[in-house]
Amino acid sequence: MAKKAWGGRFGAQTDHRVEQFTESISFDHRLFEHDIRASIAHAEMLAHVGLVTPDECQQIVRGLSEIRAEIEAGRFAFVPAREDIHMHIEAALIERLGDVGRKLHTARSRNDQVVTDVKLWARDALDRVDARLLALQRALVAAAERHRDLILPGYTHLQRAQPVLAAHSFLAYVEKLARDRDRAADCRKRLNILPLGAAALAGTTLPIDRHRVARALGFDGVAANSLDVSSDRDFALESAFVLAVIAEHLSGWAEEWILWSTQEFAFLALPDALCTGSSIMPQKKNPDVLELIRGRTARVLGDLNTLLVLVKGLPLAYNRDLQEDKEPLFDAFDTVEACLELAAVVVEGATLRADRIAARLDEGFLDATTLMEYLIRQGVPQRTAHEVIGHLVGRCEQLGCRRLADLPDAELSRAYPGLGPGVKDVLGVANAVGAFRSYGSTAPGEVENQLSSWKERLGIIE
Ligand code: ARG
Repeated sequence: MAKKAWGGRFGAQTDHRVEQFTESISFDHRLFEHDIRASIAHAEMLAHVGLVTPDECQQIVRGLSEIRAEIEAGRFAFVPAREDIHMHIEAALIERLGDVGRKLHTARSRNDQVVTDVKLWARDALDRVDARLLALQRALVAAAERHRDLILPGYTHLQRAQPVLAAHSFLAYVEKLARDRDRAADCRKRLNILPLGAAALAGTTLPIDRHRVARALGFDGVAANSLDVSSDRDFALESAFVLAVIAEHLSGWAEEWILWSTQEFAFLALPDALCTGSSIMPQKKNPDVLELIRGRTARVLGDLNTLLVLVKGLPLAYNRDLQEDKEPLFDAFDTVEACLELAAVVVEGATLRADRIAARLDEGFLDATTLMEYLIRQGVPQRTAHEVIGHLVGRCEQLGCRRLADLPDAELSRAYPGLGPGVKDVLGVANAVGAFRSYGSTAPGEVENQLSSWKERLGIIE
């Protein structure tokens, strides 16, 4: 049985049940690349300040690079007795280099090492999420272009409300994802402060140069309080929150598109390759990808909650509880990355069923609010206009008219004298959409402006 790196004061081997219970290698092995990157920067700094010689530094850097290659090739043995990725890599280095390897841990502790590694990992993961968010935005903009002139019934309370352009709907999600990217960038900014060099909790008596390490690892600054460093998991909480909001956005979108793909709505056609069937009902074609995107949101919210509860009530500096930060953080990133990837696949593959949508656009009096505003433009107080049009909708229902335009002229002018023959120019869904004016509305000109502005911002070339 190998001696523990911390075994000097111990008189007995660790109970194997304790080893099994306390190990983190089964999940933190994925930090290996970041651990080695940070160790190389640390070793080069140690050489710069004279704590190791240039030759020792070279040996360490070469040894670490070889270990990285071994892990990448799947030739590295992971064992619970070595606890975590940091101990595995250091032990392998010592096996190679003897006393030179035993110098790498100078002026650092696993407490500042682990948080440095996780930060480096999370920073890369945030960058991957950003790239996926961008890809999904681009897919949505392309879908907006494909369905440029298509009019949809817009809903509030899931009841037909006013007409909207399909492009307006796609771009609504582009906006949400833009805020997600903004939040991720903001989180990255606060994350990007170097923990390493705080050592166990109080710093070190050795003459280290933390700013040099920060520069080498691409951090924007150095953590100013060594006691704060190893207990700080704000970046993990913030990342999980950023991811939870993304998951919420995807979940709402998935829910909407699941509804749209039902026979009751029949707005959306999903290609066979993106759906699955039923083992008993031969006719079924189910939107399982969308359902799982909606369902996996639960995991991400759970991960955020786990992290929040984990750090609650922890005193300063390192406590072993903090080892529990990795699984929820990894899971939240893995889940959201996969959902974003599949969301883009669905957006690229889906088509809105223009014929089915158009066939029912006259239902639900989508032009009622436009007609009310037509009266307001003539000086009628809004509340009066609302009542007049509400009355006309009631009349339609009594007389069995599907559309306001089907009411006899006499009904209209009796309801309000201003409702003369001119109303035919504002009634109907196409007229209603064309009548919008306000900034950010579904007016075709406005949507066109938004579309070109997004194409420019997202670097989409015509
Ligand atoms: N495996 C630990 C973790 O992931 C590394 C830090 C352990 N530090 C310690 N003093 N035991 O958090």
